[in-house]
Amino acid sequence: MDILIRNETEKDFREVEELTRQAFWNLYFPGCNEHYLVHVMRNHKDFLNEMDFVAELDGKIIGNIMYTKAWLVNEDGEEKEIICFGPVSVLPEFQHKGVGSMLIRHTINIAAKNNKKGIVIFGDPHNYCKHGFKSARDYNISDMNGEFPYGMLALELEGNAFSGHNWKFKYSDVYNIDEKEAGEFDKSFTRKEKSYQPSQDIFSIAFRAYLK
Ligand SMILES: CC(C)(COP(=O)(O)OP(=O)(O)OC[C@H]1O[C@@H](n2cnc3c(N)ncnc32)[C@H](O)[C@@H]1OP(=O)(O)O)[C@@H](O)C(=O)NCCC(=O)NCCS
Repeated sequence: MDILIRNETEKDFREVEELTRQAFWNLYFPGCNEHYLVHVMRNHKDFLNEMDFVAELDGKIIGNIMYTKAWLVNEDGEEKEIICFGPVSVLPEFQHKGVGSMLIRHTINIAAKNNKKGIVIFGDPHNYCKHGFKSARDYNISDMNGEFPYGMLALELEGNAFSGHNWKFKYSDVYNIDEKEAGEFDKSFTRKEKSYQPSQDIFSIAFRAYLK
């Protein structure tokens, strides 16, 4: 596949929202909110415009990745700015062809070149350990409650960026989306059937698991 990885432009916005909706539909719960997250993220102060990439094949957008600023807070309350990605989406019919990995690898390289210190995300370890992510627990990075979620993963971009402290991971408040507004936004898309699929239970189990 002759895939072009390039920055998202304004004329791509709706197409990216459509693809995000297709990628996440019924994945975590019946329906999804990620297309609304993408919609509001672009105007948020923490959004990293230069890290917003699409994968294009023959003029069609088949994948997208977006980043925001995030922070690690140490025992003294000092903050270190890092970055976080999500959502990352590939159109279902183009998944398992290496597109998601291309987007992740491409943006990790750019982040490292731009002297970003590291990346912390929430995600399925299966998708990200192959790109160098480790459990955030391994770097003594907890969530803001001092807990170590199973799916909280970290990648150092600068040597020892995460060593020497106990950290708390603070992500952008853009991720705290208003579900009612997301539901209203969804009405502007073609109606899609909300239904159960087993991934909802798999994620529900994983999201409630904590490491010691
Ligand atoms: C998660 C997601 C972005 C991954 O994108 P993707 O394009 O499917 O990812 P890749 O193709 O790079 O890798 C997926 C698998 O396909 C395999 N693969 C890659 N190219 C392949 C090929 N040509 N033939 C067969 N398999 C291939 C990879 O080895 C990988 O296998 P693994 O799961 O056993 O490690 C995509 O599945 C998606 O949009 N999912 C829904 C939304 C989501 O969950 N997003 C992440 C949470 S924020």
